[in-house]
Amino acid sequence: MQKNQVRKAVIPVAGFGTRLFPATKVVKKELFPIIDRDGRAKPVIIAIIEEAISAGITEVGIVVQPHDREIFEDLLKKPPKKELLKKLSPQNQEYSRYLEDLGSKITFLLQEEQLGYGHAVFCAKDWVQDEPFLLMLGDHVYASDIQKSCASQLLDVYEQVNQSVVSLTTKPAEILHTAGCVTGVWQKLNSILEVTQLYEKPTIEYAQQHLRVEGMADNDFLCIFGLYLLSPKIFDFLAEHINQNLRERGEFQLTSSLDRLCQEEGITGYVVKGKCFDTGLPDTYRQTMIDFRNF
Ligand code: UTP
Repeated sequence: MQKNQVRKAVIPVAGFGTRLFPATKVVKKELFPIIDRDGRAKPVIIAIIEEAISAGITEVGIVVQPHDREIFEDLLKKPPKKELLKKLSPQNQEYSRYLEDLGSKITFLLQEEQLGYGHAVFCAKDWVQDEPFLLMLGDHVYASDIQKSCASQLLDVYEQVNQSVVSLTTKPAEILHTAGCVTGVWQKLNSILEVTQLYEKPTIEYAQQHLRVEGMADNDFLCIFGLYLLSPKIFDFLAEHINQNLRERGEFQLTSSLDRLCQEEGITGYVVKGKCFDTGLPDTYRQTMIDFRNF
């Protein structure tokens, strides 16, 4: 294996999905249906796995709550019942075989206690080992503006810069309280950024003082798009935060460890040529249902 070859992707899906309560009391948000460009209804997690595979990823680790494992296994590791299979259209029978192939690339990893996104990523440490890996949020799906998929664009940048890469998109100040935000210095205007700071859910005042990026409109900031290419060094910082019980809003977050990684090894930001669709809130999910199909 080449030193900087990326083979593995991690997708944490062990959260409670409180913002989609009570739907998430019975269905994990990562299993909510969306409709893709081909008009096929599929659970969000499948669109995310497909995004990873499109970038040449060959192994996918999905971090689940122990008692959700079975339902994800039913979807990803078991063929449909014979009675169902024979009723499917030829196209859906073929898709079902393709799903079995996807399933063979998947490993389930457990997060016993729901201690936050950063903690869920840490649960993948032993599986990832000492390799760079693609990290993907479990409630975002993507559509590229160009031939290459969004994840594939990220891997290309990683190959060029050979350090961790976070995907970025521009967002208005009013919604910064929902996003991870970054600042830095353009290496290539509006495309590649040397990241100098990452900050989770800043207030507008904080962002205006500390997170402005040269050349961007007053009301625009760079926010994390939901895909990350990370050096395994991230696990050292997550371990430190967990061992020292350094929580934010009661949970172990990823962004503060990313900021440490940035100070120690450097992080490149990349403004993805594409769109990211959030499925984690009622109205963003509703909009994703409409826009993902038509993109
Ligand atoms: P979110 O920040 O969206 O948290 O997690 P959540 O619990 O799923 O949803 P809300 O905020 O309560 O509505 C980002 C990703 O990290 C996973 C989630 O499943 C989601 O894909 N996650 C979060 C975990 O795997 N474990 C956790 O303890 C928290």
